[in-house]
Amino acid sequence: MKTYHDLAGDGGSNIIAQVVSQREKLRSRLDKIKHKISLMSGKGGVGKSSITANMAACLADRGYRVGILDADLNGPSIGHLLGVGNDRKLTIDENGVAPGVGAMGIKFMSMDMLLPTPDSPVMWTEEAGGTAAWVSTMESTALRELLMDTQWGELDYLLIDMPPGSDRIDNVRDLIPELEGVVEITIPSPVSQHIVSKSITKNSKMGVPIIGLVENMATYVCPHCEQEGKLFEGEDVRKLAQSKEIPFIGKIPFDTRISRKTASGTLFYAENKESVTGKAIAAAVDNILKFIDKNSKR
Ligand SMILES: Nc1ncnc2c1ncn2[C@@H]1O[C@H](COP(=O)(O)OP(=O)(O)OP(=O)(O)O)[C@@H](O)[C@H]1O
Ligand SMILES: [Mg+2]
Repeated sequence: MKTYHDLAGDGGSNIIAQVVSQREKLRSRLDKIKHKISLMSGKGGVGKSSITANMAACLADRGYRVGILDADLNGPSIGHLLGVGNDRKLTIDENGVAPGVGAMGIKFMSMDMLLPTPDSPVMWTEEAGGTAAWVSTMESTALRELLMDTQWGELDYLLIDMPPGSDRIDNVRDLIPELEGVVEITIPSPVSQHIVSKSITKNSKMGVPIIGLVENMATYVCPHCEQEGKLFEGEDVRKLAQSKEIPFIGKIPFDTRISRKTASGTLFYAENKESVTGKAIAAAVDNILKFIDKNSKR
């Protein structure tokens, strides 16, 4: 098989130099970020983005410098969750794009930042002249650019909010080989557990470190009296973690305040950290930090 090195000329585009320079640029951005973690689930709508945003808030509250990469290119929601909607402005200079800065100083980059208006959809097929064949390639290029072109600066944590499904983590690991691990999220329903179980199996087979499993919407917490009650009659999510031999790291209640619009967007933790649900988020974060302490090389 021929490589670029075997080509006599490349029409003056100097592809090798371009690839090398992109790689170096990405590396220099990533080297300034101590810990990178993805939050994912095979299943859609289980609370990945809400938990990512609120865990970021918890880390920021403890004094860490935090960023979120919204890797959900087709359904970005992090800007909205961090309270940066219509008033976003994209600032670009020779060093790259300035990230959005949301509630609690959390930096983020999202496809939303690049769209002409907050309600514009992402139209990959239009860009590709009507073919869907290039969508996957364009998506992985877009992800690299969001990571590489953003002026993240020095960060303690970069949380990566994944889209639903299990396959996109391969792209993320290609770009960030030092990814410290993934947090898997499920709700208690049997169908969610069934799908998340496949995601865990796939990650284990592919050697993706799994920090642990979080159960979202595990119980119901009354937003007025803070009483906690049962929500689902389902299989215990702890059993799923046990059967997959991964840690069970958190149980976050269903709490209507999580989806409510607040002064900080929909960043529940910023305003309710002492609530039952706020403490549950903090307990899951404690477990993630323990994993990092034990396993991190930095
Ligand atoms: N613990 C919770 N209590 C109450 N509502 C919640 C909770 N977690 C998530 N939600 C709500 O559930 C909905 C889905 O959450 P979210 O968008 O975070 O899920 P997701 O897994 O990121 O979805 P997608 O797969 O589309 O990316 C949102 O309306 C959110 O406000
Ligand atoms: Mg999401």
